[in-house]
Amino acid sequence: MTNKPVWIRRASQLVTLAGGSAAPVTGKRMNELGIIENGSLWLENGRIEMVGTDEELAAAVGGRAEEAEIIDASGKLVTPGLVDPHTHLVHAGTRQNEFNMRLNGATYMEIMNNGGGIHATTAATRAADHQTLYEESKKRLDLFLLHGVTTVEAKSGYGLTLEDEIKQLEVARQLHEQHAVDIVSTFMGAHAVPREYKHDPEAFIELVIREMLPEVARRGLAEYNDVFCERGVFTPEQSRRILEAGVALGLKAKIHADEIEPYEGAELAAAIGAVSADHLLRASDKGIQMMAEAGVIGVLLPGTAFFLMAESANGRKMIDAGMAVAISTDCNPGSSPTVSMPLIMNLGCLKMGMTPAEVLTAATINAAHAIGRGGQIGSLEQGKQADVTIFDVPDYMTLQYRYGVNHVHTVLKKGQVVVK
Ligand code: NIG
Ligand code: FE
Repeated sequence: MTNKPVWIRRASQLVTLAGGSAAPVTGKRMNELGIIENGSLWLENGRIEMVGTDEELAAAVGGRAEEAEIIDASGKLVTPGLVDPHTHLVHAGTRQNEFNMRLNGATYMEIMNNGGGIHATTAATRAADHQTLYEESKKRLDLFLLHGVTTVEAKSGYGLTLEDEIKQLEVARQLHEQHAVDIVSTFMGAHAVPREYKHDPEAFIELVIREMLPEVARRGLAEYNDVFCERGVFTPEQSRRILEAGVALGLKAKIHADEIEPYEGAELAAAIGAVSADHLLRASDKGIQMMAEAGVIGVLLPGTAFFLMAESANGRKMIDAGMAVAISTDCNPGSSPTVSMPLIMNLGCLKMGMTPAEVLTAATINAAHAIGRGGQIGSLEQGKQADVTIFDVPDYMTLQYRYGVNHVHTVLKKGQVVVK
């Protein structure tokens, strides 16, 4: 890139999150934000070149000041571009009818067992062609960006045939190539046992292990492999086989664990060394301890608990146990149809007992680690990719306190202004 340097000046708070690039930030250290008041950033060639106070940068920049496009961030908060480490971005259709059914007393699992839920979105996604899926998903990605998110993870799992899983992953790849937001892809063929395998789930697991995983790996379409480990979906034993098959092909393990019922998903994540265990609403104390010891990142999804009217994961307990916690929207049409990481941060504070500082760490550097990008994004440090969000609030506490409003002022991706 040969664009003009960008100089962001005089931020009332520049939250660097410095120091966590090598490993996820665990326990109480999640409160250390590396705040610089009257902060300044020099971005060049898509990277962060200088970070410091405005006085420090003014002295260092000297005569080069005139080359730069200047963004005045006085009175504003500057953070790393937010990272969403768990989404079901690529899908077709919506399920507001199920929302209404749940408000009339039906449960999420009842709806799914009657052919709705994931099955309904699978039918819609199978029926949609590549272009339709691309357009629907791009709209969501545009909204993510408007809410300050510069990287998202995206899962397949609404195809559940080889062809339709690949279609979803190819849409994600095209979005990654063409959209300002970067995408990290996860294969989730084991999202549900499709209706046609209802009476022979083992045959479907064989299909995932013998055909889908090898083909996805061969085409380089995903970095992670995820499973919905839940009573009535995939057992811990089945989940383990599917995740180990992925690891053997170079796909790192993630797991939807202990979302609806306690099912020893956290324990499984620790036993197999998964990169992350996600949801964890009903994780056991033993599972939390095991994840802390094994270095599994807990990806918590308080929007899902909120939307399913369930009790949230105990983020406080996990951090106090020494875990690294990340947070995410879980953006999907059934259990969390939102794209708002700022709302998720607020729910992290109010529903999971996390501090405003901890949720910001969870939405940036720890989220980056949950998708293997801790060395490139998630903090404002010299040499890192210049992904930056500027919020029109004076400090990070206000961002989560004045909730339900989009405070995003400017977003820069790889040093270029993409939202203004
Ligand atoms: O993370 N739990 C499984 N998968 C999604 C929901 C998918 C859907 O309902 O379409 C989740 O909550
Ligand atoms: Fe999910």
